[in-house]
Amino acid sequence: MLGLKLLTDPRWANIAESNLEEILTDHAWCEQKAASNAISLIMYNSEYEDLVHELTAIAIEEMQHFQMVIDIIKERGFSLGKERKDDYVGKLMKFNKKDGSRNMAFIDRLLFAAMIEARSCERFRVLSQNLKDEKLSKFYYDLMVSEANHYTTFLNFARKYSTDVDVDKRWKEWLDFEGDLIQSYGNKEHIHG
Ligand SMILES: [Fe+2]
Ligand SMILES: [Fe+2]
Repeated sequence: MLGLKLLTDPRWANIAESNLEEILTDHAWCEQKAASNAISLIMYNSEYEDLVHELTAIAIEEMQHFQMVIDIIKERGFSLGKERKDDYVGKLMKFNKKDGSRNMAFIDRLLFAAMIEARSCERFRVLSQNLKDEKLSKFYYDLMVSEANHYTTFLNFARKYSTDVDVDKRWKEWLDFEGDLIQSYGNKEHIHG
């Protein structure tokens, strides 16, 4: 699925379901970070008109996801709580190439975003297939579809705007790196935990 090297053990969904307040809080902040990331890509790459247009739509959609999650948090009598750090994303961030050309840095930022979308999509799939709560299961199904589209958008922009990067080769490196990294996760009630 999406080229991912390692699929999440479905038992992770039980961990998530055992602490819904925590998974929802962590999830809400993931959506905010996705919106912020799209905005920052717009700020640094404003010369690409179609990218600005599409990433504006993604930033809005991510904040709509944020709103949906905080509505669920409220409905269930939970509270949002402070922003949660995302250790997995921090480690992925370090894999970005910062010492190459400007194009390399730009393409890697797009692949970094595609990578997070791919794993988030996979985690939402595990939640949608394994949560006993039917309403949440449907909610995660819808989000899975949405994040899959974002994954495609980021990957397509990387292919379109690469001038000196072999995108397929670099994407394989991302998938290999992520496949090793994710082995240390899958035991916490966080979206990438
Ligand atoms: Fe989202
Ligand atoms: Fe997304």
